[in-house]
Formats: sequence, structure tokens, C-alpha cells
Amino acid sequence: MLGVCYYPEHWPEARWTLDAAMMRDLGLTTVRIGEFAWSRLEPDPGHYDFAWMDRAIETLGAAGLKVVIGTPTATPPKWLIDAHPEILPVDIKTGHVRGFGSRRHYDFSSDVYLGEALRITTALAARYGTNRHVIGWQTDNELCCHDTAMSGSAAARQAFQHWCRDRYGTIDALNAAWGNVFWSMEYRDWDEIELPILAVTETSPSARYAYRQFSSDQVVRWHAAMVAAIRAHAKDQWITHNFIPMEQTGVDNFALCEQLDFVSFDNYPLGIADIALARAPADALMPFMRTGLPDLTALYLDQTRGLSKGAFWLMEQQPGPVNWAPHNPMPAPGMVRLWTLQAFAHGAACVSYFRWRQAPFAQEQMHAGLLRPDHQPAEAWDEIAQVAGELALLGSLADKAPQADVAVVVDIHSRYVSDIERQGAGYYYDRQLFRYFSALRALGLDVDCVAPGQDLTGYKLVVVPGLAAPGEADVAALMASDARIVIGPRSGAKTREFTFPEALPPGDLRGLVPVRVRAVETLRPDCNGALIAGNQRFESGVWRELLDVLDGEVLARYETGDAAVVRHGRATYVGCVTDDGYLRHLFEGLAAEAGLVTTALPPTLRLRRRGDLNFAFNYAPEPAEAPAPATAAFIIGSAVLSPYGVSVWRSE
Ligand code: GAL
Repeated sequence: MLGVCYYPEHWPEARWTLDAAMMRDLGLTTVRIGEFAWSRLEPDPGHYDFAWMDRAIETLGAAGLKVVIGTPTATPPKWLIDAHPEILPVDIKTGHVRGFGSRRHYDFSSDVYLGEALRITTALAARYGTNRHVIGWQTDNELCCHDTAMSGSAAARQAFQHWCRDRYGTIDALNAAWGNVFWSMEYRDWDEIELPILAVTETSPSARYAYRQFSSDQVVRWHAAMVAAIRAHAKDQWITHNFIPMEQTGVDNFALCEQLDFVSFDNYPLGIADIALARAPADALMPFMRTGLPDLTALYLDQTRGLSKGAFWLMEQQPGPVNWAPHNPMPAPGMVRLWTLQAFAHGAACVSYFRWRQAPFAQEQMHAGLLRPDHQPAEAWDEIAQVAGELALLGSLADKAPQADVAVVVDIHSRYVSDIERQGAGYYYDRQLFRYFSALRALGLDVDCVAPGQDLTGYKLVVVPGLAAPGEADVAALMASDARIVIGPRSGAKTREFTFPEALPPGDLRGLVPVRVRAVETLRPDCNGALIAGNQRFESGVWRELLDVLDGEVLARYETGDAAVVRHGRATYVGCVTDDGYLRHLFEGLAAEAGLVTTALPPTLRLRRRGDLNFAFNYAPEPAEAPAPATAAFIIGSAVLSPYGVSVWRSE
């Protein structure tokens, strides 16, 4: 299925019928509407105006389109903010109130806002919960986008105090758990507890860790209430949310998605690549400036599928230049089609483009749509028409699961730890996650992204880029697995209270690889040391641990001769950040042992299987050879991939 995001309230009603017909003729079947329209749905307090939305839904439905309603809670209107200014969140870096005038100006701890958001959500669900043209709902929009997970408000402080009381029971227990004797940080009562922000220098890392988890819990609590409000009226319609990856928001998406029917993601490969490579040399960005980073897009798609426990939606797909990255190039010709097919290869059930028509007013004037502001087809139009036809060739994808032999464990706690305790300016959990994932993809391996503690039955190789503060269940799941396991540096570095584990890192992970981290050094990313594996020389740097080897085989050493990578049975512990070459070397060997076939791919060629369909994607401006068997029967394309081309063949 293909769809589009549409804002009927932005356009004269006289255009709606024509728009709907053009959408249908392009091959689109779904339309998302409504997610920022609060000021039109309730122009004055308590006075709802659903008539225009009724007509918009009727118009779209009459053209055969199915409608997804976004609840408008990301944009509380001016009258509501004026009546209850305490809804506004407080910036944790400055202590200033974040004001009205854009979006996401609300505090997850504000009970007033919770009530108001439930009111508008309930009113919408009651009106459209049985509408025959409405197939489903999107809650709010990109929760925690624009850095809004945490707030420094009075409401947040009070809620944090309650959260701490529930967690620790006594204030002495909290003081002991956080080590508050240090720097006289001890509290005598719950109402003395401060949010760990705006202090002179570094605040307690334990308090910050707790504050992160509290903030995530507040978002989950708020969202669960919205889902329940919709569910009460929309019994036969599904509910989803367009997620931001948890490395970006710091919210535990595994908890956030629990009540949903499936998970959606908004895919903006060029904006994300421009930001990810902002400080990289030009020759790192240039080849991917108009394609996005193939493995970063894939990582987000695979994470979304992992959250969704099955098929997912791309609720928004970039169709041209966006407006929000430092630089906003045009996609290479063919890339909108490629991204669309890539999403289906990784398990999507629908790709919905953002947005129907480029807006000639307001904040996103420079953001491409499928139509230009003058209503004429924009650059991506023909590619979308093409891909709409090609999807029919693939047949039903519903029964084709993209399950993989390799699992990558994605861990929010590692993100918290690397944010809270910088220690080395070059160490970021997100980068480690991406690099481990990318090394697997460069070997042609399909990957599932799983939660820590998830059952690992069936996987042959399990890769853990970091598990900084593992819970008991996380360790137990790894112990129970019979896969080959790779555990990255800084794992088991902390307890869940952000203290050292008693017998030093990697804590309970020592049950898998009996090593002890004796000391840690961090280095500037351009000042690497060596990593010597047999007669091969690689690099180590950024974060290097000195390991005492209690049992096991040393696979690689630093230039000093100290152990850097240790294997014990089926588990391997990597005690440093390595270069990409070492990761490929390590994964290739383990994959071969596990009976997995690998194909060394150039950075511009990627493969993905979905059921019996094999996809090859060429991100290069010149043709490439698809690594298909000689007998392969192609459904799309051929053995020679065109520039930015896609080929699909069926397995025998
Ligand atoms: C998304 C957001 C949309 C729109 C889009 C522009 O993050 O959900 O509302 O702003 O970015 O690329």
C-alpha cells in the first residue's frame, strides 16, 4: 500500500475532490489527516467544529481512499495555553519556559494537559471511531521530537519526587543508592528532591539516570492514556504512532509501543545523513548525500519492525528536499522509488509520503511534496507512479516475514549511560550501534533488532553493541541462547543505580565471558592505537579497556600486548572501539562457524530478503551486478542493477 499525508485545512475546499482523484489515480490508497488541526477542530474552548473534517473524510472516502486520523495533541491551541500556561514545558538547559508558536509545547507531567489532550482525543474518537472510511489512528505526532522528552517544570519536579518515593520507599534508601553522601547531596525528605538540572557543575549521574527513566515513564503513561481513549470508541480501527528512534529521544520505545497495534516510522534519509555526517570530511558524505546512508535507513527500518513485532508503516517518507537539515539536497533520480521498495523489503505494509502538496506558507515552505505549490506534479511523481505499478508485481507481502538469522540487541540504557557519563568525547552508544549493524549489513546479512531480555531462540548470531547497565533478564536471555554472541565495550559498566558493579565491569556478563575490566582509557577519535589479531593489524581507540582474562582465549591484543578481545565458548567480549575492518573480520568468522552465508558488499550495494523475495539495492550512480544465482527469475529489474536501481528475484 502507498499513502500520503494531507492537510485539507490548508487548502480551499474546492480543491479537495480533485486532490482525492489525483491521489487515487497515482495509485495511493491511504491518507493521513488531522494531526495538527486542533485550532480548526475546536476553534473556541468547548466548541467543536467537525463539519469540515466530516466533509474531508467523505471526499477522500468517495474517491476510494482510506483515512488515518492523527490526533492533534502535538499542537495545543493558543486559547488553551493562555488559559493554562502551566501546560508549557521548561527547557532543562536554560530553565526558561518553552513558549507557544511552533509545536510540541506541552509538558508530559502536566495533569491539566493530560486532561485536555484526553478530551480532544475522546471527542475525535467518539465522532470517527465507527466511520467507514477511517481505518486507523495515529496518536499525537512524533512524540518527543524537538527534544521534548524531559521538562524542568514544577509539575515534572513533583512527579519526579513521587516516582522516586515509589521506587525507593525511604529517602535513606535513595541517598544510599545514589551515593548522595558525595558532595553533601543528601536529602532529608522527598519534597527536597531537585531535578538534576541547572546546577553549577555536574549533577549526580544516578539522579540523572533516574530522571531519564522517569521522563520516559511519563511519556509512556501519557501515551497509554491516549491509546485507551481512542480504543474505547474505535473498536474496529487500529492505532499506531509515528516513532522517532529511541537513540534520538531517550524514550524507551519498547515500552511506548506496548498498547499499539503496530509501529510506524518517518523516513527522512537525506536529512538524517546530513546531520549524522555533519562533521565528517566531504568525501564521506558526497557519495551518500543524495541517497542517505543505506545502513542507517535500514537500521531504523529494522528497529521499527522489531518494535512492531511484525509489519510496520512508514507514516512519512521524504519525497524530495526537506527543510530542517543544515543542508537539504535533492534525492538522486530513482531514490524515492528505491526507499519505497527498501521499506517493503524490510517489512513495511504501507509507505505514506510526506506531504501531498508543498505549502506556500508557514514553517515548511521549502519542504517538497508530491505536488508543487502550483498544484503541478513535483520531481518524485513519476517514480511513485512507477513503484505503485511495481508493487502489484510483488504480490501479497502479508505472509512474507523478513525474519533474520542475526539479532542485534538495541539498548536504551546504554544510550543513557553514554550520555550521562561522557568520559570520552568520541564514545557514543548510537555510533557503536550503527557501526556494528553496518558491519553485518556489509556482509550481506539480514538483521532483526531486538530488545534486551527478548527470547533469542532461533538466532545463530547475536550482536550486542553495548549493554551498559544490564538487568537480570537481559543477562539471562543471553545465557539461555545457543547463538554465537558478541558483546561490545562498556557493557556491564554500571548497575541500574549508575554505580560500579561490585566485582568491576562487565558485572554479571562475566558469566558469559570471564573477564574483568581493570582500567579504562579514552582517546581522541583521530589518535587510535593498534588492535592485533593473529597476523592482522587493525585499529582500536576512543574507548579502550584493560582486561584481566580469568578464562578464555585472547582473540586480539593492543600494541602493549594487553588483551583487547576475549572469547569464551560461544561468547566474545570486545573491550574497545575498533575500526570497521575488525568488526567485519570478527563477524565474518563467526557467521561462517554458524553456517551463515556472507557476501562482502561494496558500501553502495545492499541485500534484503523478505519471505521468498530477494531484493538488491544499488545506491551508486553507476550500474552494479546483483549477486543473484544464474538461474534467478527476476520480478523487478535484472542481474544488472541500474544506477540507483532495484532488482527483485524469487528464491527457488
Ligand atoms: C516530521 C514531522 C512532520 C513534518 C516533517 C518534515 O518529523 O512529523 O510533521 O514536520 O517532519 O520533514
